[in-house]
Amino acid sequence: MISKSTIDQVYETARVEEVIGDFVQLKKSGANYKGLSPFSDERTPSFMVSPVKQIWKDFSSGKGGNVVAFIMEHEHFSYPEAIKYLAKKYNIEIEETEQTDEQKKVLDEMESMYLLSEYAEQQFSKTLWEHPLGKSIGLTYFKERGFTDETIKSFHLGYCLDNWDDFTNKALEDKYQLEYLEKTGLSIVKKSEDGTSKNFDRFKGRVMFPIHSMSGRVLGFGGRILKKDPKAAKYLNSPESPIYHKSKVLYGIYHAKASIAKQDNCYLVEGYTDVIQFHQRGIHNVVSSSGTALTPDQIRLINRLTKNITVLFDGDAAGLRASLRGVDLILAQGMNVKVCSFPDGEDPDSFAKNNSLEEVQSYLDENSKDFIGFKASLFAEESKDDPIKRAQTIREIVESIAKIPDTIQREVYIQSCAKIMEVSEAVLFDSLAQITKKDYSNAQKLASKTRQEAFKVVKHKPEEQKLNVLVELERKIIELLLLYGSHKDRFKDEILDKDSDGNLVHKPVEVDYKVYEKIYLDLQQDEIEFSQPHFKTIYYQLIQGFNQNEDFKVQHFINTQDQEFSSMLSSILMEDEKYLLNNWESKNIFPKEKDHSIAQLTTETILTLRCNLISRRIEELKQQTREEEANIKSLLEEIMDFQKLLTNLSKRLNRVLVA
Ligand code: UTP
Ligand code: MN
Repeated sequence: MISKSTIDQVYETARVEEVIGDFVQLKKSGANYKGLSPFSDERTPSFMVSPVKQIWKDFSSGKGGNVVAFIMEHEHFSYPEAIKYLAKKYNIEIEETEQTDEQKKVLDEMESMYLLSEYAEQQFSKTLWEHPLGKSIGLTYFKERGFTDETIKSFHLGYCLDNWDDFTNKALEDKYQLEYLEKTGLSIVKKSEDGTSKNFDRFKGRVMFPIHSMSGRVLGFGGRILKKDPKAAKYLNSPESPIYHKSKVLYGIYHAKASIAKQDNCYLVEGYTDVIQFHQRGIHNVVSSSGTALTPDQIRLINRLTKNITVLFDGDAAGLRASLRGVDLILAQGMNVKVCSFPDGEDPDSFAKNNSLEEVQSYLDENSKDFIGFKASLFAEESKDDPIKRAQTIREIVESIAKIPDTIQREVYIQSCAKIMEVSEAVLFDSLAQITKKDYSNAQKLASKTRQEAFKVVKHKPEEQKLNVLVELERKIIELLLLYGSHKDRFKDEILDKDSDGNLVHKPVEVDYKVYEKIYLDLQQDEIEFSQPHFKTIYYQLIQGFNQNEDFKVQHFINTQDQEFSSMLSSILMEDEKYLLNNWESKNIFPKEKDHSIAQLTTETILTLRCNLISRRIEELKQQTREEEANIKSLLEEIMDFQKLLTNLSKRLNRVLVA
């Protein structure tokens, strides 16, 4: 177990905006940062990070929480894994309390597989650099490809000896379990009919390319065979496993992410060696989908870092047309796609190897073409003298254009394609209308649903309205406590006093309170409880916290709650940001008065809540008068008392509101 002091140190050191910044491109937006949600497909940012509150909120998925919650959510880490990740990032030494055998056993399956993969990476690398055969075969091969020592080390390249089970045996010797060796695919277990079994190294005789997650963990491997063997695949990859999902990883993303965000562009190449050769040449914003067509999950990984993608094609790509079709997927995600093909017989690997950085860079700059334009000229050329093919071509191009979510951009493309293909814009628009009509009604339904969701906070169903107002008010009280609990302010209050004629009057006074004191004292008067049990729990915990501890830290309080509570509290803290996000002010919806002082805001909220709670109490009592005839007199008296209180409070509320 990780010691408490290590955990505390992690919380004190880790900055939520820095940690999330490794995964999401964040833009400053007022006091906060904004970005595209890493948890859903979206094109307009609804992901918010508050450096002041040290929390994040994803309005599209509803997730939110502190820095640890983000890492758990994003990397699918357990709590200890998340703490370890943050400790590593901030160079905090991890103090472990002794682990029992029992605890070791329950270390979950994924963690075991991660650890094994990391171990395998080290072993393969050790073999490459230290074993005589590793050096003479593996290292020599990489050197011949033109990789420098630095490059080989940076990508943790390795070699697996060409013996049947050397690696598997070493791993078993080092106490790694066969179960995980098999599940990660590093070993293949063959059972014979007599009940015995034999283990084999899947990657025997191959140079190894470890595949890393966005955060640098080893997920799986690609291995290239070195012998000429027509029966064996040139490249072999790890099989799907709980930690390796081919469709969700991009080779090179760990090494490329910072540069992608910085350059605001991502080069997409075919394979391992293309990525590495580009990197060595000095172009770092490059990833590969390792042989397969790009999947939506992979596009999403890139989309978090940039809107711009440049797909690089081999000069002699036989399946150029097929590859182009895959590009439509990228368009559909609202990304800007460029394509660049290499001279005949060259691929990105060879081109980067044989040319200087300046040459490669200027080749890319000069030959990267806008995808739609590229496709249009390619097809226009092909179908020049064939009217039937021409109709088909127009349709294919318009299909790509139809994938673009932005209507203005679509129009621009129609115009430029009309020129390239020498047809009238009207023809293209017509064709576009036909294609989009199909999806139109579905899209409409979806859009109206999304709109309803977005306004949920404002518009309630009438029957729910009463309860929702109360919930909102209770939430607001919690928010005030979280945000300003120990803030001292001058509160306008009223006391009952006698005037010079001896009549009872309300006299205004000004008193200094801390916000939590004012809330507690005021709410206590009516002896009415919160309607929402979880708000009630938090309320009392917060009041107690402020009461007992001079410098009670809300952040610390949130961190010590379990994940569900902590996420809920973060949501409350971030709720007001939602208004900024949706830019509701520009739509003339004012959710709250921002220029009120904290004291005013507090008083106003307390009074509104008290009025609301009292009205509800009155309703309850009225209901009782219908059911309990015996008590009717005392019930009516109670109602009268509450009515008087309500009138009084309403007047005060009015005075505060107009102040
Ligand atoms: P190549 O066939 O060019 O691989 O494929 P190579 O290692 O460069 O081999 P030679 O030396 O040219 O003959 C280019 C990329 O395509 C991926 C690899 O990542 C490689 O870097 N690839 C290729 C696969 O993923 N699987 C394969 O079976 C073949
Ligand atoms: Mn090659």
